[in-house]
Parts: sequence; C-alpha cells; structure tokens
Amino acid sequence: MKIALTGTPGTGKTTIGKILRDRYGLKVVDLNEVIRVHKYYVEWDENRDCLIVDLEALRAHPFSEDLVLEGHLSHNLLVDRVIVLRTNPVVLRRRLQKRAFSDKKVQENVEAEILDVILVEAVARHGNNVYEVDSTGTLSESALVVWEIIQGHWLERFAAGQCDWTAYLNDA
Ligand SMILES: Nc1ncnc2c1ncn2[C@@H]1O[C@H](COP(=O)(O)OP(=O)(O)O)[C@@H](O)[C@H]1O
Ligand SMILES: [Mg+2]
Repeated sequence: MKIALTGTPGTGKTTIGKILRDRYGLKVVDLNEVIRVHKYYVEWDENRDCLIVDLEALRAHPFSEDLVLEGHLSHNLLVDRVIVLRTNPVVLRRRLQKRAFSDKKVQENVEAEILDVILVEAVARHGNNVYEVDSTGTLSESALVVWEIIQGHWLERFAAGQCDWTAYLNDA
C-alpha cells in the first residue's frame, strides 16, 4: 500500500517520516529529494520562492509498492491513503520563522494552513481516503497516530474534517 504523508510546510512531515522509518521500520520516501534527483521540475518560481514541479513527470515515477511518500505534493500522486498533518497556525508560524523562510513565505504558508488548502486538494482527489492528524503536540504521539492510520486502525476517529483553524483567520 502507498501512503501519502502531506501537509503544509512545517507540519512535521519529514520529522515524522523519520520516526516512521526508525521506530516502525517503514520505507519512507522524501518526495522533495525524488523531485530534485530526477529533475521533475520546470523552473524556479522567483515570485513564490519555490520550484515549479512537473506533476505529470512525478506521477509517472516508478515508485515501488508499500511505502510512505512524504512531501507537500504527495497527495497529488496515485496512493491508497492520504494522511494530512495539521498544525495550529500560531505554532506553525513559530516553526516556520525558525527556518530560513521569508516573512512572505511564512505568511503564505500560515494562511494556507488556516484555509485547509492541502486538505481540500487531498479530498478533491482522494475522497474519503483522507485522514487528518493534528501534529501540534509531541512528535512521538503524532507519529504513533500516523502509524496506526497506516495500519488501518483508528480510521473513523481521524477521518478528514476534524481540524478547524478558522478562528485564527485574523490573528495567527
Ligand atoms: N510536533 C512537533 N513538535 C515540535 N517541533 C516540531 C513538530 N513537528 C515539527 N517540528 C519541527 O518543525 C520543523 C519543521 O518540521 P519538518 O518535519 O521539517 O516539517 P515539514 O517536513 O512538514 O516541512 C523541524 O525543526 C521540526 O523539528
Ligand atoms: Mg519536509
């Protein structure tokens, strides 16, 4: 089974992916690395300070079965289950500020998190195969929940639609 582990930058995809690998022995693929290594991009977007990815080429990549695809574009791929990491916008802002992100990029990502941008994209493509995990708390607990969902446990409890950050629209 292929699992997409997606979410706004800073929600913990890479870190939780490492825990899934180290603690649970899962095969985890860093999608950003695949994009870099195989040059699945068109150009650098100066305005948005990010790569424009060739999604068609990425979709055609021969991924093996039984792995976790980790990255904010993973829900665009042919996968069996999607897990969207969600983080309280106030906490997310702090995490992104610690990275070398411009103020504009921090703001853009915080707003995208509040507006459920990735969740909406994931549900549009994968319907009720989408699950949401609040990764605001400890990494260890978030990774455990992700692991359980991957195994097909706790699916009802973590079905998409439980995170609502709209209260933060004006002050995150
Ligand atoms: N639940 C968490 N608690 C504390 N720090 C976290 C948590 N999730 C992520 N971080 C930290 O936030 C930063 C971004 O995490 P990362 O895994 O790179 O996110 P992503 O891959 O989704 O962009 C890292 O420094 C990481 O240690
Ligand atoms: Mg990452």
